[in-house]
Amino acid sequence: MEEAKGQAHVAKLIQTQRATRQYSEQKVSEEDIRLILNAGRRAQSSKNQQPWSFIVVRDPAILQQLATGGKYADHVPYAAFAIALIASNAGGAADFDLGQAAAYLQLAAWDLGIGSCVTWMHFSEKAKEVLNVPDDLNFQVLLSFGYPVPQEQPQTPKKNGRKPFDEVVHWERWS
Ligand SMILES: Cc1cc2nc3c(=O)[nH]c(=O)nc-3n(C[C@H](O)[C@H](O)[C@H](O)COP(=O)(O)O)c2cc1C
Repeated sequence: MEEAKGQAHVAKLIQTQRATRQYSEQKVSEEDIRLILNAGRRAQSSKNQQPWSFIVVRDPAILQQLATGGKYADHVPYAAFAIALIASNAGGAADFDLGQAAAYLQLAAWDLGIGSCVTWMHFSEKAKEVLNVPDDLNFQVLLSFGYPVPQEQPQTPKKNGRKPFDEVVHWERWS
């Protein structure tokens, strides 16, 4: 049974979580990486198929190579580690499932003060090659993690960072 470690209330974590692309040089312990991974594998999934595998990358040389797999991935080489989300199915419910796992991984990390960023692997075949991912599996999303550089990482939600409540919420019916 994995122990929860963080103390923060989940609503507070959600409110303060931001995409983190500037990482300090502080390493993340293996214990904390395992704790984050355990949160990810607890995510719900359609028919409980758990259509995911996670590849943990700590080697800076491999992180550097992974940065060539995305169009907006310049931050990846500076991460303390990354987790490649490998999917055994693509599309429909599986995409949703992987999104859930990603959210859990990221929230569990943030609970430990570790920031993260989703990075899309636009050049998926190239990225698969870097990690020796078998042909029949999909690799579209990389999560990079690291302690934020304090002065670069605001601790409050970004002003106007999300659409206003009334623009996105409808009650009972659309109109
Ligand atoms: C599906 C998806 C793909 C993303 N791809 C990238 C990416 O390739 N590079 C990147 O720097 N950020 C990427 N992001 C991060 C978003 O830009 C970020 O979550 C969004 O701008 C909100 O940022 P904030 O939480 O700091 O307000 C991606 C996020 C998602 C959910």
